[in-house]
Amino acid sequence: MSQFNLILLGPPGAGKGTQAERLTDDFNLPYIATGNILREAVSQETTLGKQAKAFMDAGELVPDDVISGVILEAVEGPDARDGFLLDGFPRTVAQAEALDAGLEQLDRRLTAAILIEVPDEEVMRRMSGRRVSVKTGRVYHVEFDPPKHEGRCDVDGSRLVQRDDDHPETVAHRLEVYHEKTTPLIGYYEDQGVLRRFDGTRSPTEVHDHIRATIATLRLEEEL
Ligand code: AP5
Repeated sequence: MSQFNLILLGPPGAGKGTQAERLTDDFNLPYIATGNILREAVSQETTLGKQAKAFMDAGELVPDDVISGVILEAVEGPDARDGFLLDGFPRTVAQAEALDAGLEQLDRRLTAAILIEVPDEEVMRRMSGRRVSVKTGRVYHVEFDPPKHEGRCDVDGSRLVQRDDDHPETVAHRLEVYHEKTTPLIGYYEDQGVLRRFDGTRSPTEVHDHIRATIATLRLEEEL
């Protein structure tokens, strides 16, 4: 089977995590999410977590050399042999170049960069209502995607909390960082011919249907 190497791009709150959860179920791809890896490292107080915490709390990017090695190791690992869905990496041109170089060494290439586009005002609205399960990591929104029972995860009833970096000033700064450091990747992947754009302002189900249909077509093309 051909490999299927995907990345998710988009501003904070675009719905990358929401869509990734659905897409990994559809296509049975290992999901590698830098934000989740870093938050787990912070909660376990590992060396990586200690290096990352202050940057994350301030809404800054963790330095490229801290994150790149961790993610390339996951991409090159046995679980990702047939492909992967990367969420939150790359976020700078230097990270994108590191990923390209890592894939080239393995004689692989990116299949698609999935860009979920959402305007800044919508991001601000979404982040204030986001809630995340302390145990499963499943993402909800108090208004747009509420759990069945308030404050509790549908999967296992665990507590839902607000992320430390979801306070309005931090979100505003994360958006600035996104526009400055990550949006150059749109041109980068457009030049490579792998960029696919999606309107993230539609409902989670509509966005999912659209991305799933595009990926299914790409998969068919890869297998021809
Ligand atoms: P990370 O966790 O990756 O945060 P992010 O990219 O800012 O993305 P989010 O997780 O905030 O949003 P999302 O797009 O996944 O949206 P979601 O699905 O939750 O990174 C956190 C930090 O780690 C960074 O700030 C940085 O410090 C560090 N970091 C990570 N990667 C790094 C890297 N490569 N280099 C350096 N540093 C790095 O949805 C948001 C809300 O909207 C939810 O409540 C959801 O229910 C709702 N929603 C989703 N879709 C819809 C919809 N279609 N309509 C209405 N509501 C919706």
